[in-house]
Amino acid sequence: MRISLVVAMDRRGGIGLRGGMPWHLGDDLRHFRRLTMGHHVLMGRVTYEATAGKLPGRQLIVLSRDPDFQPADAQVAGSLDAGIRLAAAAGEEELFIIGGGQIFAAALPLAARLYLTRVHAEVEADTFFPAFDEQEWRLVSQQDFAASERNDFDFSLMVFER
Ligand SMILES: NC(=O)c1ccc[n+]([C@@H]2O[C@H](COP(=O)([O-])OP(=O)(O)OC[C@H]3O[C@@H](n4cnc5c(N)ncnc54)[C@H](OP(=O)(O)O)[C@@H]3O)[C@@H](O)[C@H]2O)c1
Repeated sequence: MRISLVVAMDRRGGIGLRGGMPWHLGDDLRHFRRLTMGHHVLMGRVTYEATAGKLPGRQLIVLSRDPDFQPADAQVAGSLDAGIRLAAAAGEEELFIIGGGQIFAAALPLAARLYLTRVHAEVEADTFFPAFDEQEWRLVSQQDFAASERNDFDFSLMVFER
């Protein structure tokens, strides 16, 4: 099973603000939907709360250490390894790890592919993607989008592998 990270970050690695996203990028959301549809997606409990009900058609795995956290529409795992095992046991071929900051920090060393939406701006953020060395990765594709009615900022959809 391939382990992939999907993240949108600004020039400084900012990914979140006050529990939500610091921008609206309609074309990125559409790309995210297409990419992840039908697959297992793994996320932290905070990201689950922020996206509740917005990820139909995907099998949700949520990491939480709270034994009382039992959402109706997701499987809960108490560790990253346990969450990955749930997807592997279900026969998943590509697991998408979709955040937030805590989960990206734990999962980055395990990822073989990185779907990176690079937002060409510097925004206010309180949650960040971990530092990563682009030298370790090979850029396999890039698609550029301009700011528009649908997208707050210019951005690039980049795919890296290692
Ligand atoms: N730009 C992007 O691509 C993107 C993507 C996703 C999210 N975000 C943003 O990121 C922010 C949320 O990120 P965050 O770092 O605050 O939270 P998070 O990573 O979404 O969730 C953190 C929670 O996950 C659980 N957890 C973390 N590590 C765990 C482990 N090793 N084992 C078991 N459970 C674990 C804990 O839940 P319990 O407290 O229940 O134990 C913890 O409170 C939001 O602003 C969101 O909008 C941005």
